[in-house]
Amino acid sequence: MRILGIETSCDETSASIIEAKKGNKTVTLVSNIISSSVKLHAKTGGIIPENAAREQIKYILPVIKQALSPIFSSRLTSHFPSSPSIDAIAVTYGPGLIGSLLVGVETAKTLSYVFKKPIVPVNHLLGHIYANWINPVIPNSFRDLPHDEKEMLNQEVQHDKIEFPAVALLVSGGHTDLILMKAHGSIKWLGGTRDDAAGEALDKIGRLLGLSYPAGPIIEQLAKNGNLKAYKFPRPMIGTNDFDFSFSGLKTAVLQEVSGIKYQVLRKKIPDIAASVQQAICDVLIRKTIKAAKKYKPKSILLGGGVVANEELKRQLILNTKYELPDTEIFFPKKFLCTDNAAMIATAAFFNYKPAPVNKITANPELYFD
Ligand SMILES: Nc1ncnc2c1ncn2[C@@H]1O[C@H](COP(=O)(O)OP(=O)(O)OP(=O)(O)O)[C@@H](O)[C@H]1O
Ligand SMILES: [Mg+2]
Repeated sequence: MRILGIETSCDETSASIIEAKKGNKTVTLVSNIISSSVKLHAKTGGIIPENAAREQIKYILPVIKQALSPIFSSRLTSHFPSSPSIDAIAVTYGPGLIGSLLVGVETAKTLSYVFKKPIVPVNHLLGHIYANWINPVIPNSFRDLPHDEKEMLNQEVQHDKIEFPAVALLVSGGHTDLILMKAHGSIKWLGGTRDDAAGEALDKIGRLLGLSYPAGPIIEQLAKNGNLKAYKFPRPMIGTNDFDFSFSGLKTAVLQEVSGIKYQVLRKKIPDIAASVQQAICDVLIRKTIKAAKKYKPKSILLGGGVVANEELKRQLILNTKYELPDTEIFFPKKFLCTDNAAMIATAAFFNYKPAPVNKITANPELYFD
């Protein structure tokens, strides 16, 4: 079956087609188009929801049209209805920014109603985890990817080897959660952040350091030239007897360190601060994930969300689990599938195929794990 995925929860407008047969262990990408308004938000140092929603409206139809282009050579309206090529539509219905979510949900509902295709509403957070089931084969539509992304695509993660039970660590811009997955559709939330998410903390710390938005990838680059032991930043909740996180104290610690310092002086300290912050976040995420894995004894650990693009987090987690959990495999999505994309939404719909009546689907900005 072929599923058209639509994702508009925040500042990315994305449409994707995935393909898989019943019983397949992974899905194959046919197309994955992403239009990001991140440059606009860099100017304001963060996302202004109204601006994000306006950009979604501008790009939703061109993005869907382009995603469909590998299978339809002509216009969407003339080919979509009669063609059997798309079997279902998957759409993110929450969580996210209400204005942005509505654009995707209403577009998907309209397509579903007009073209009589089943529609599957998908939780965006589950979507991030389902990026792990996307096959690494490079489709033709990706031939223009930059070289380093092609390298990433070839990384040896065997996505068809994921086995349950699995512990999933979701680390995105707005969420930091640990989840136990016993099977597709059987999930238990173990814990999550009590304040800032890890990605949010990186972005806010970036703003304190005068870095542009989003700061996560910039901090990763700066950290390469910094001393991770230069600053003893707190590891919030690292030893608590639960699976919760807290990162706002880390942000406050950086604020105390940098306040009152002239930029000329601060500039020289930034690589050391970046390396120390990144290490504090990695330490907490890795320790809590290992703690959950020791308790629930999963066969797989799955990583998902934009912060998983961070090479140091993956490297250190793999290194630590090698000794502490030798029987547990670590899986993570391709780098370009860590941040928001519609392929992960279509993939989640394939493995949890529950179409809903069009009139029952509404955007839910507060949606969380069931
Ligand atoms: N290489 C990196 N290292 C660390 N953090 C990164 C890296 N690349 C991206 N990020 C962070 O990932 C976050 C964006 O991830 P993602 O797109 O999953 O979040 P989101 O969709 O905005 O949030 P949510 O999914 O919770 O609604 C940002 O906070 C960004 O700074
Ligand atoms: Mg996201």
